[in-house]
Amino acid sequence: MNKIVIKGSVPLEGIINIDGAKNSIVALIPASILSKSIVRIYNYPKISDVYVLIDILQELSVSTKITNEYIEINSSNIKNTPLTTTKMGSLRASYYFMGALLGLFKNTTLRLPGGCYLGPRPIDLHLKGFETLNCRYDINNELIYLQADKLIGKEIHFPFPSVGATINTMLAAVLAEGETTIYNAAKEPEIVDVANFLTQMGAKISGAGTSIIKIIGVKELHGTDYVVIPDRIEAGTYLILGALLGNPLEIHRVNYLHLYAILTTLNKCGVKTYINDDKIIVYNSNKLLPTDIVTDVYPGFPTDLQQIITTLLTQSHGISTVTETIYSDRFQNCQELIKMGANIVINDNKVIIKGRTPLKGSEVVAKDLRGGASLAIAGLIAEGTTIINEAQHILRGYSNIIEKLQNVKANIHMST
Ligand code: EPZ
Repeated sequence: MNKIVIKGSVPLEGIINIDGAKNSIVALIPASILSKSIVRIYNYPKISDVYVLIDILQELSVSTKITNEYIEINSSNIKNTPLTTTKMGSLRASYYFMGALLGLFKNTTLRLPGGCYLGPRPIDLHLKGFETLNCRYDINNELIYLQADKLIGKEIHFPFPSVGATINTMLAAVLAEGETTIYNAAKEPEIVDVANFLTQMGAKISGAGTSIIKIIGVKELHGTDYVVIPDRIEAGTYLILGALLGNPLEIHRVNYLHLYAILTTLNKCGVKTYINDDKIIVYNSNKLLPTDIVTDVYPGFPTDLQQIITTLLTQSHGISTVTETIYSDRFQNCQELIKMGANIVINDNKVIIKGRTPLKGSEVVAKDLRGGASLAIAGLIAEGTTIINEAQHILRGYSNIIEKLQNVKANIHMST
């Protein structure tokens, strides 16, 4: 399996360019089939989830072309083939094919999604959205069957602003009859990105980015060219790295409006950042301050940066806490950080971090995408050499991470 080898404690200096948002592109690729035409998506991240989703498109007789600048998806001759390929189980976002195929064909059969283990990850809210639109479903041994004579727009009230369920309901509703209103919709920037993409394809959507989204069904959609928004989690990851080792680091091609929570948190920890349009310069802070973090839905502190900020807080002078409110088991990286010398106590959905503890290079295991990223940052600040096993988790969400870090002087490489 992939290993990442890091020789730590090297000050990092230079420019890191942020790529398109993983949690947008993984929805845009399935959504593109709703056009039954040609779509080009620019600024896509070169991450393994993208290539898996493109492979899955082939099962539907959708033709694709990939260049360095764009992904072209031609769904003019799409077939409603049951998506039973095991590739569907290799990532969570394959569930967006449910909404897209249901929206387009009104019935479909798919293998259930997989993805990082962060605790139970049910899809009951997705199914609530589909059922409200007049869809029946059946699940047996890993396959789900969705069936609707026709999809009829309705009011949908989510008990929790689920990102995936909000997007999947939009995908099913854009070609439904009548108006759909989603109440307690998720407000993440990726929701707005998908809504803008669908609107460019001819959908009628308003309110994306607020907790009430209205969709007026249309007869058909058409092709478009689209540019993915910058990845706020990738940007946050490198900002945290810069706060630890930046000499300085310049993070380019960001949308700082999506980074309010992480920028204010770094500021509270005594980190200086300088925003200039789509660039942020970050210097390492020689005296990081402790803080208390509670993850929340957007615009709160993102759960996807929870594991990564924990690495920074091991270097803060004092006691910090991180409370995880979105997932029930997203602290698996802590055991590995403790192995490296961190002082962390896990107490139900909260970790208590006593800093500052020097970290020493160790052999560790990445258990999930963002946990793996937290270990990579720990390895970059540790004394000595760190080997990260199961590093393929990290490559699912960070475009060209090895090259990007080598370009700012990190001593890091892949090995098998
Ligand atoms: C998306 O996951 C992201 N993944 C996650 O990013 C991110 O952590 C999450 O949103 C929250 O921001 C993608 O976009 C592919 P949710 P999703 O539905 O859609 C529960 C990363 O590291 N829930 O908002 O699965 C669920 O179990 C990944 O990039 C239900 O109970 O998130 C979780 O506890 C990790 N029933 C909470 O809601 C449902 O039907 C948040 O889930 C759906 C979700």
